[in-house]
Amino acid sequence: MTQPRKSIHGSWSSRLAFILAATGSAVGLGNIWKFPYIAGENGGGAFVLVYLVCIGLIGIPIMMAEVMLGRRGRQSPINTMRALAAEAGANPAWRWLGWAGVVAGFLILSYYSVIAGWALAYVFRSMAGVFTGATAEGVSSIFTQLTEDPERLLAWHTLFMVMTMIVVARGVKSGLEQAVRFLVPALFVLLLLLDGYAMASGSFDQGLNFLFTPDFSKITANGVLIAMGHAFFTLSLGMGAIMVYGSYLPDRTSVARTSIIIALLDTLVALLAGMAIFPIVFANGLEPGAGPGLIFQTLPIAFGHMAGGGLFGTLFFVLLVFAAWTSAISLIEPAVAWLVENKGVTRVYASVYAGVATWSMGLLTILSFSHWANFYPLSYIPVFEKYTVFDLLDYLTANIMLPLGGLAIAIFSAWVMRRRDSVQELDMGDATAYRLWHFLVRYVTPIAVIIVFLNVTGLVDF
Ligand code: TRP
Repeated sequence: MTQPRKSIHGSWSSRLAFILAATGSAVGLGNIWKFPYIAGENGGGAFVLVYLVCIGLIGIPIMMAEVMLGRRGRQSPINTMRALAAEAGANPAWRWLGWAGVVAGFLILSYYSVIAGWALAYVFRSMAGVFTGATAEGVSSIFTQLTEDPERLLAWHTLFMVMTMIVVARGVKSGLEQAVRFLVPALFVLLLLLDGYAMASGSFDQGLNFLFTPDFSKITANGVLIAMGHAFFTLSLGMGAIMVYGSYLPDRTSVARTSIIIALLDTLVALLAGMAIFPIVFANGLEPGAGPGLIFQTLPIAFGHMAGGGLFGTLFFVLLVFAAWTSAISLIEPAVAWLVENKGVTRVYASVYAGVATWSMGLLTILSFSHWANFYPLSYIPVFEKYTVFDLLDYLTANIMLPLGGLAIAIFSAWVMRRRDSVQELDMGDATAYRLWHFLVRYVTPIAVIIVFLNVTGLVDF
């Protein structure tokens, strides 16, 4: 038997630390900002159902595969894939999977940081009490004023990138582990509070109905792809973030149980967020398909009308910033780990290089909300008719790059890697559970991803 490798970057202090870090990566803007607005844009119930099925059949098995590959390789995803390809006697080109992940992470973080900047701005607006008693129109114009001002967006985006680079520079253990330990429970409490408010809004049933009663006439082929892409996005899969976190995982930890816990927590946060937001949308006669501004145009109404809303609003946006922060770190970690391994730079320099590059790319997103707000580069393609540069970046990464990355991870883990190696690394104890995982990753994930892709291009039609 081969000796397990060791990571040069250190490792988590315990299994709990890994769960917290991976949950911190998974739970982020994807759950609270993105999930509600894409569910709203794609008709609600049917979209949510497809998303949940994708979490169960694709997300959890792929998360197990990523953790397994990372823990076996014990390096940045690029070098992990190189080492594991060599071990399996496969083509060294598999390391390109690691590269594609680095690029995807860089593109995602470039816009993620701009949105996280909105959350930062909202911390200060809540604190100043600007939402107290505000109407839906008032809240909406506060949002537009922010997003249409490129200088403000730039300031907040810069602050968020600096925050991210500081934590990444300090390494996996100090900072990161501590932050998540408090964050995740606090976020749950605040979301429950908002759900309580939503229950009293008079439109709770209508909100629940929108989210949980599937109406398949409302979902398109593109909507199905968006739901699947979001399953990858929300669980941080398909680009090596969970792989690199897995590479810091202590040897004897149940990959299966850990992955299931993380996926359940993540899904719960998204559903709680949706259940808070849609009743407020309907109670105020707002549009569920309002787009990326949805939570920023709805939740402040709730905070503006509840007792202690100034305090809760501030706290909520602080937690949202933390949730985004712990996710941002994981988006850049694969690149930083690679720079340290291959370029011999310290973590500090690696973080600065990767951070500055991402920061510059973020300018495209900032422009998308201001000067380029009506610029639709691919308007000649029907699906992308109304897609801004930001929308396209998000679509390319979440709906194309991540599922393709997931497909490649599935093929590698269940077709290329030797079976005895995955048996050993997953160490499930239970042969049936292993066989179920292997079946899902070998057949279900690849076929599902391919069918959804073909469906959206119209090559096959369901
Ligand atoms: N999962 C995070 C969220 O929902 C975002 C994120 C972090 C991510 N790391 C990732 C998305 C890696 C894709 C890939 O907000």
